[in-house]
Amino acid sequence: MTANLRFDQETSDLLEQIIRHRRDVRGNRFLSTPIEQGHLDKILQAGLHAPSVGFSQPWEFVLIENQNTKQAVAASFKEENDKAQQTFATTEGQERQALYQSLKLEGIHESPLNIAVLYKPQDKPILGQTSMTDMGRFSVVCAVQNMWLMARALNIGIGWVSIVNPEKVKTAIDAPTDRELIAYLCVGYVDKFYDKPELETLAWEQRRQTQQVIFKESYQQHENN
Ligand SMILES: Cc1cc2nc3c(=O)[nH]c(=O)nc-3n(C[C@H](O)[C@H](O)[C@H](O)COP(=O)(O)O)c2cc1C
Repeated sequence: MTANLRFDQETSDLLEQIIRHRRDVRGNRFLSTPIEQGHLDKILQAGLHAPSVGFSQPWEFVLIENQNTKQAVAASFKEENDKAQQTFATTEGQERQALYQSLKLEGIHESPLNIAVLYKPQDKPILGQTSMTDMGRFSVVCAVQNMWLMARALNIGIGWVSIVNPEKVKTAIDAPTDRELIAYLCVGYVDKFYDKPELETLAWEQRRQTQQVIFKESYQQHENN
């Protein structure tokens, strides 16, 4: 690796584009075309080069193409999503529930590849994880984000599915009991990438304004807190 490598403006502009145009991709946009091995390698290597607390690299990735495994995960999604619909019915009214019901929130079968990303706890103290014990889990999330961005740079979509029972997913992939499911990803080429989050376009949520979320020095100085 080149020592003290510096990037130019063009490269940082490019990274900005990749970040801004990364999207969560659901079943309605995936193509069934298999992922090229070279592309998959790049996505996985991006994950492996993420930062991790104490350089603990507490991640493991299970690549899933098997229809029975996908079926088990999809069944768990359905079960959990039915429960979720009830939640929005009781707390947010019928209109919101109808909108929730209309959302496509996974692409388990439509995407050619699923990746289960797991956290492997270690039985020794980890540098940096002695006070804030979730740091290993957050490191795994950093790996997911790296993969998401690399995939986007290769024009490959990723969708994160979290409406599942993690224990059922672990059973489907024979994961050791101490592992924790952090992310279940659907990966595939797409027919198109949207410019904006689908949940924004469908008026489920709005993008928060910069001034709503960036504070100077303390919350006290903030006008709208
Ligand atoms: C931790 C996490 C969990 C998510 N789980 C789901 C999910 O279960 N289903 C889904 O459709 N999208 C899921 N998403 C995607 C978000 O809805 C999406 O990132 C958000 O709406 C913004 O859209 P964008 O990613 O296209 O910019 C998840 C995203 C994150 C970061």
